[in-house]
Amino acid sequence: MDRQSMQERFGIIGTSPGMRLALDRVRQVSGTDITVLVQGESGVGKELFAHALHDMSRRRHKQMLVMNCGAMPEGLIESELFGNEKGAYTGAVEKRQGYFEEADGSTIFLDEIGEMPLTAQVRLLRVLETGEFSRVGSSILLKSDIRVIAATNKDLGKEVEAGRFREDLYYRLSTVILTVPPLRERQEDILPIFDHFQHRFSQKYNTSAPKMDISARQLLTRYRWPGNIRELRNVAEQTVVLLRGDAISEEDIRPYLRGVTYGGSGVGLIAVAGGSGQSGEEPAGARERELIYRALVELRVEVRGLKEQIAQLVAVSRTGSDQETTSVTDPSRLLVMREDRPGQADFIEEAPYEFEGASDTEFQTEPDGAQPTQPRQTELPTLEHAERTLILTALERFEGNRRQTAESLGISERTLYRKLKDIEAAESTSA
Ligand SMILES: Nc1ncnc2c1ncn2[C@@H]1O[C@H](COP(=O)(O)OP(=O)(O)O)[C@@H](O)[C@H]1O
Ligand SMILES: [Mg+2]
Repeated sequence: MDRQSMQERFGIIGTSPGMRLALDRVRQVSGTDITVLVQGESGVGKELFAHALHDMSRRRHKQMLVMNCGAMPEGLIESELFGNEKGAYTGAVEKRQGYFEEADGSTIFLDEIGEMPLTAQVRLLRVLETGEFSRVGSSILLKSDIRVIAATNKDLGKEVEAGRFREDLYYRLSTVILTVPPLRERQEDILPIFDHFQHRFSQKYNTSAPKMDISARQLLTRYRWPGNIRELRNVAEQTVVLLRGDAISEEDIRPYLRGVTYGGSGVGLIAVAGGSGQSGEEPAGARERELIYRALVELRVEVRGLKEQIAQLVAVSRTGSDQETTSVTDPSRLLVMREDRPGQADFIEEAPYEFEGASDTEFQTEPDGAQPTQPRQTELPTLEHAERTLILTALERFEGNRRQTAESLGISERTLYRKLKDIEAAESTSA
C-alpha cells in the first residue's frame, strides 16, 4: 500500500518529512512480528500509528488489545496482562485469563509503558524473548503468539538511568523505534489537520466552519501546541462551536490557545523587552535566548500567582463565611501542568496572569460553607486540602473523566487513582 492510501485509510494527515518517515517506518515493519516502540509527546498520534501497524499486519482480523499502564492500578497490571490463579493475591477470587492469553494471534498495545512496574517488566521481557509466561500464582508455562507495540511519552533512557525501567527491556523494546514528532516540528501539517477537524466538526454540529483570516492562520502555525493534535482538535472544535463569520482574526482565536508560540510572539502572555515577535531574521542564538528569557519571566509570574492563590485560600479559611473574601479563582486553572514539555515538566502553563479577585462567581464559596471542594472553614488549609480541592475541581470540570483530569493535572492516571482513594479514605474516617 502506498503512503497516500495508507493515510486515507487510517486518517493520518500530514506531508511533513517527519510524518513521511513515520509512515514509511509503519510500512517497513507492519508485515513483521517485531516489537515496536512508538515514541512521542502526548497527543501526537501514537495510538493512531499503533492501530495502523496492527491493521496493516496479518493480525488485523483479530482486535488489538489496548492497555494503558499508567491508568491501571499498579497491583493489577501483572494479573491483567498475564492472568492469575484463584487466590494468587488478596481479591483474586477467580482464576482468570490475562491479555496475553486472550490476544493469542493478535497485537497488544501497551500505552505509557514507562509507567509499568518493575515486576511486570520482568514478565514482559520474558514473554518477548521466549513467548512464554505464567499466570500470577502459577508455575505452569503458557505460550502465546502475540505482537507487542509499546508507546511512551517519556525518555525511557532517562527512566533506565533513574532505575525505574529495566535496561534489558529497554534494549529489547527499542529495536524498532517509531518516532512521532511534535506538531511544532511539523508546522506545515498544522493547517491541513486544523482544516480537517473544522470540517469534521462543522458536519457534526451541522453548522458552517468560521473562516480564518491570514493572521489567524499564521498564529495557528506559530503556536507551540504543547498538547499537539489533541489540543489542535479541541481548538478546532471550539472555534466551530463558538465563532462565526468569514474573517476570524488572530485576536479572535488567541483566547483559545493556552501556551506560548514557538519561535514567535507570546500568545496572551508577556511582551519581552526587545523581542519584536517577528524574530525571523534574528540569529538562532538570540531567538533561543529570547525563548529562555520568556520562559523565566513566565515562571516568575506563575510563582507569584501561586503565592497569591495560596494567600487567598488562607484568607478563605480565616474569614469563615465572610462573603467578600471567599471567592477563589478557579483553582484547576493553576494546575494545568504538562509532562510533555521537555525540560519544562513542572511549568504551569495556564496559571492566570491577572487575578480576577471577587469577580469569579463560578467558584464562590457558599455562605454556609456547603461547597464540597473548599477546605473546611475553621482550619488552615493544609497542602492536602489544597490538593484535594484542585483534584475535585478538575474532576468536576472534566465531568468525571479521569484520563482528562489526570492529564490536566500533569499526573498519571494511576497517581490520580491513588489520590482519589486517599481522599475517599480520609472522607470515610472523618465522617
Ligand atoms: N496525523 C494525524 N492526522 C489526523 N488526526 C490525527 C493525526 N495524529 C493524531 N490524530 C488524532 O489526534 C488525537 C490524538 O492522537 P493519539 O493517537 O491518541 O495521540 P497519543 O496516543 O500520542 O497521545 C486522536 O484523535 C487522533 O486520531
Ligand atoms: Mg495516547
